[in-house]
Amino acid sequence: SGESTVSITVVGASGDLAKKKIFPALFALFYEGCLPKHFTIFGYARSKMTDEELRNMICGNLSCRISQRESCDDKMKYFLSKCFYHSGQYNSDADFKQLDNKLKMHEKDRLANRLFYLSIPPNIFIDVARCVSHSSASTQGWTRVIVEKPFGRDSESSAELTRGLTQFLTEEQIYRIDHYLGKELVENLSVLRFSNLVFEPLWSRQYIRNVQFLFSEDFGTEGRGGYFDNYGIIRDIMQNHLLQMLALFAMEPPVTLDAEDVRNEKVKVLRSMRKLHLEDTVLGQYKCQMRGNVRIPGYTEDKTVPSNSITPTFAAAALFIDNARWDGVPFLMKAGKALHNRRTEIRVQFRHVPGNLYKWSFGADLDQATNELVIRVQPDESIYLKINNKIPGLGMRLDRSNLNLQFANRYSEEIPDAYERLLLDAIEGERRLFIRSDELDAAWAIFTPLLKELETRKVAPELYPYGSRGPIGAYYLAAKYNMRWGDMNLEARS
Ligand code: BG6
Repeated sequence: SGESTVSITVVGASGDLAKKKIFPALFALFYEGCLPKHFTIFGYARSKMTDEELRNMICGNLSCRISQRESCDDKMKYFLSKCFYHSGQYNSDADFKQLDNKLKMHEKDRLANRLFYLSIPPNIFIDVARCVSHSSASTQGWTRVIVEKPFGRDSESSAELTRGLTQFLTEEQIYRIDHYLGKELVENLSVLRFSNLVFEPLWSRQYIRNVQFLFSEDFGTEGRGGYFDNYGIIRDIMQNHLLQMLALFAMEPPVTLDAEDVRNEKVKVLRSMRKLHLEDTVLGQYKCQMRGNVRIPGYTEDKTVPSNSITPTFAAAALFIDNARWDGVPFLMKAGKALHNRRTEIRVQFRHVPGNLYKWSFGADLDQATNELVIRVQPDESIYLKINNKIPGLGMRLDRSNLNLQFANRYSEEIPDAYERLLLDAIEGERRLFIRSDELDAAWAIFTPLLKELETRKVAPELYPYGSRGPIGAYYLAAKYNMRWGDMNLEARS
């Protein structure tokens, strides 16, 4: 028949990411009616498991949005009946050939498209890419492969990985995920900039004093120390999630919203960035902390972490874009685990109002009078602008208030998980939110010299207590550029 079908194979099906994110996202796409009518899902991993066992493993994490609750059970049953399992080695062509046979059985004589999600450690990416391309690629339809970081540890190892993958796949077949690009407010960033008159004209060194990209989590690396210790927070969060947000924030307007147009602009802005230096970086690592009588262990007390590890779990950095728009504007990043809250946001601090008529009302602290635009990526998604406002009354007293768009108040729609959007885009062949290889190279080029230096000089991180606001060094880094972290202001503390 002329109908097509899509087969999605999750390689590394028993892993955490697959269980917590990928299968639930596939289910959400299904009940939203976003998957094609004919689809098959396969879990692939080494351990022996029956189809039924796979279904039991994933069903606990599937859930319906509130608006979909009535038909939820039926939909779940149907979805699970489309899920299967195949056990095999990650480097065995024969095992992938068997998978191919099974896929064919389900695809019948339809035009078959195949998507492979490599939810596995990167040291086996290339083996799997080889097996997929030799033994289970689609013969008539498309074959696409999703990979997720870590993409190497530095420029060289990343380039090597790209070379390895492109032996077996074309660049067009490779979908590199940065799941932050799938987040609602990150996607909204371009809408905010390019479809509102009031922001884009201000979007430059002329009006913006500094921009901050902040990421904090209120938990440590518990259980993931084995992975994390080899990478550290700069590779885990900054080089990808925060840098991607920065690129979207700072890029020039793209010619169109087409994937290549947007990615061209992102590459350009990344290539305009100065390489990061040690003197513009602060490193931290969390240590134990007492909460009442309970002792919360520090990073190096994790059994999967060497006790003398100097891997940073916190970093702050000042970055610069040497182009006409951003010359001299500090772009500050701060990312940390085991801090006092969980929050991701972009803060844009504007310049002082020249000749401000109301200067007197702010006392000595004129910084308190500048506007700040905050894009809260998570949680409590919101966009707000701090403005100066007259406190009602006969006198003339000013305060700072927020023009506030809180998504939960404004919209009844639920915010989809990042993986839903990204999986849907991969199925539809929309590459805008995936990382192109030259973009990846440009991202690594900014951080690699610093990462090398940290390793050769064995730079020790400043210790900070679990649950605190991070090392004091971050404060001095901001002060060096005459600025303050927006999330350290009293009013931001709530
Ligand atoms: C991952 C990092 O990429 O992102 C983790 O490896 C981090 O260390 C996670 O916890 C954060 O993602 P989210 O979507 O929970 O903010």
